[in-house]
Amino acid sequence: MKALVLAGGAGSRLRPITHTSAKQLVPVANKPVLFYGLEAIRDAGIREVGIVVGDTAKEIRRAVGDGSRFGLEVTYLPQEAPLGLAHAVLIARDFLGGDDFVMYLGDNFIVGGINDLVARFRRERPAAQIMLTRVSDPRAFGVAELDGSGRVIGLEEKPEKPKSDLALVGVYLFGPDVHEVVAGLKPSWRNELEITDAVQGLIDSGRRVESTMISGYWKDTGNVTDMLEVNRLVLESVEPSVEGSVDGASELIGRVVVEPGASVSGSRVVGPVIVGAGSVVRDSYVGPFTSIDRDCSVIDSEIEYSIVLRGASIDGVGRIECSLIGREAEVTPAPRVPKAHRLVLGDHSKVQISK
Ligand code: G1P
Repeated sequence: MKALVLAGGAGSRLRPITHTSAKQLVPVANKPVLFYGLEAIRDAGIREVGIVVGDTAKEIRRAVGDGSRFGLEVTYLPQEAPLGLAHAVLIARDFLGGDDFVMYLGDNFIVGGINDLVARFRRERPAAQIMLTRVSDPRAFGVAELDGSGRVIGLEEKPEKPKSDLALVGVYLFGPDVHEVVAGLKPSWRNELEITDAVQGLIDSGRRVESTMISGYWKDTGNVTDMLEVNRLVLESVEPSVEGSVDGASELIGRVVVEPGASVSGSRVVGPVIVGAGSVVRDSYVGPFTSIDRDCSVIDSEIEYSIVLRGASIDGVGRIECSLIGREAEVTPAPRVPKAHRLVLGDHSKVQISK
């Protein structure tokens, strides 16, 4: 079995972070989302992975390399334009050959990996196996309709009037029959070859399509809330370890990771928290569910339930909560008078100011 990982896509829903970084590389607990997917694929016993890349190809290649550090053999498959998930299968035809494969969307996060899913597919050998989860707004997803016995009878991509609240999760298992259906697909209303239509095509031609319900699923939706929530989930199971320096005036409580070269002084850190390599936390409070990436500084401030990306600094600003702070961002106090907010915000930034 092979894996096809999709890491093209522009990430418009996660702007402004994705103006400067591929959405699949946005970190959760200081590790790119994509890496969790690659590890899940490896843990399911798969070695050969094709990664479909687009405009951000260079960045993805730099981060993943030849895959050897994940125990994978990676082949890059350039997609000239984001023409749909089924188009990715089309261009991967030679790479996939006649093998079964798991298609994994690089911006999806599945708590608990895919081992059970892959084991079931290997046992039952349907033409396709999909994962479904209940979501509050199905209009943003592919949506499945099931019959009384739980069999999938229909699929629709981003329907205006969804027939259920069961969304297609971005991990699909296919046997080689899918290629025949993909070859005959026509572009959808959004001018993409939809994988949803490919699965529907398999159903229509009488082939067996199985589904599994899961919980613990996350996909970027443009509101930072989802990212913070998945960051919380991952941090909840982090193993505490202190390899950096922590001075006697500091207190670490609960699951706290202080990576090598990080330093914590005069501060109180209440886990789960990660302080990334080379970061400085001084005279501050860092509260639960906070991931501070490499080379950041948090000085004379308080931060909780937040993600701070590489190289950002927060200095003397009181309390920050529920925030996503971009790479190399600087958060500092304004002069005392006039009492005003001074902002330099990137395109598509969102800021909430407490009055
Ligand atoms: C794609 C699929 C959709 C699925 C979703 C999961 O949507 O087309 O069926 O529910 O991934 O992430 P897109 O990422 O193209 O919006």
